[in-house]
Amino acid sequence: MATPAAVQQWTADANEALSLSLVRAPEDKASLWAREVYEGFHPTFTYPIFGEEEKIYGYKDLAMELKFASGSLAHYLNVQHSEKLPSTSTVDDIEGMLSKFIPPDYYTDEKKFLERVEHDALNFKPFGQKIYSYTRAATTLTKGKNVAISQVLSPEDEETVDFEVYHSTWSTPGFREFHRRMQLFVLLYIEGGSYISETEDTWEFAVLYEKRRRRSAPDVTTYHFVGYSTLYPFYCFPERVRLRISQFLILPPYQQDGHGSALYTAIYQHVLASPSIAELTVEDPAEAFEDLRDRNDLKMLIANDKFMREGFGPEAVSTNGGKVPRTKRGKARPMRAGAGKMGPPAERAWLEKWRTELKIAGRQFNRLIEMLILKHMD
Ligand code: ACO
Repeated sequence: MATPAAVQQWTADANEALSLSLVRAPEDKASLWAREVYEGFHPTFTYPIFGEEEKIYGYKDLAMELKFASGSLAHYLNVQHSEKLPSTSTVDDIEGMLSKFIPPDYYTDEKKFLERVEHDALNFKPFGQKIYSYTRAATTLTKGKNVAISQVLSPEDEETVDFEVYHSTWSTPGFREFHRRMQLFVLLYIEGGSYISETEDTWEFAVLYEKRRRRSAPDVTTYHFVGYSTLYPFYCFPERVRLRISQFLILPPYQQDGHGSALYTAIYQHVLASPSIAELTVEDPAEAFEDLRDRNDLKMLIANDKFMREGFGPEAVSTNGGKVPRTKRGKARPMRAGAGKMGPPAERAWLEKWRTELKIAGRQFNRLIEMLILKHMD
């Protein structure tokens, strides 16, 4: 029987051994720093693929490369090791395990994959309808990524970069196949994440892309995947829907740069602009997502002059016997903690009017009001 030390020698940590890359065509304007930033990042979770322990047994110096064409997300898989135990039932069949979760047309020939990347750079376009866009200065994109800007951006590269969000459904041509390549990120980055069912027709999607012009052909634009969210509309009495964010992720190279906030804002603006959607809800949010949602909802409320004036300004609408409650320093404090749940009827009516207008789910709206009250207290 193998000793623990021997077992350890042949055991690899799946999260470390699996490295991901987003591959761009070399002429792409961003390629210089893209190489630094977008190669060799790791998954957070691999238990859905390699089992609860996230370990792979039977190999020495194991390295699994999973590369994605940065736009179309076509896959390339390359598994390397210096030694492998003689094939027995205990040695993991890596390709067999991984290939269950990606479409069967993945590349194993790197040359062919790079040809596909070149082809996609010129031909890949986002699916569906553009619902939101924003612009960033290129120099800010390397923030916090340990990349020296002078090393990665030549002066002529110092331009702005566009980001665009597209809305699609299963019936958007080409999207279903694209989603099959994209969904692996849900397993790798969302705790408890699993694939959604393609037979449920009603799913909707919001996908965020970086849009670039090529150095060699400035009139040609290329698109690069940044992150996405799956959305599920539930029936909401009497004739609208409640749109629920189910899965939401931004790939690690793009995290901590405000892109998650931008994607959330895009979805929220889409909800506000759609008469058929009554409100936006979130399924089982992770803590990091709850933070992101709170920050963005609060920012949105604070920027709403009318709401803030009526609820928290000096001439705040009094709902309590004609007198606006004041804090010791004389600031208006029209609503008490818990107001959303148990305030006087006029207060509750005022809150409900704003809640329905802003299409925020009840529990979340109450939380936001509590946060604003705390913010306005001495
Ligand atoms: N420069 C530097 N930092 C910034 C900038 C900027 N321009 N803009 C925002 N930030 C900071 C924010 O202040 C925030 O800081 P904090 O975490 O200290 O509060 C932080 O960056 C994150 O905000 P964003 O950048 O807007 O969000 P991000 O793009 O990193 O996305 C997310 C957050 C979605 C949680 C991402 O980390 C992710 O995909 N994680 C893995 C998957 C996951 O957990 N998804 C949520 C599951 S729940 C669900 O699906 C419903």
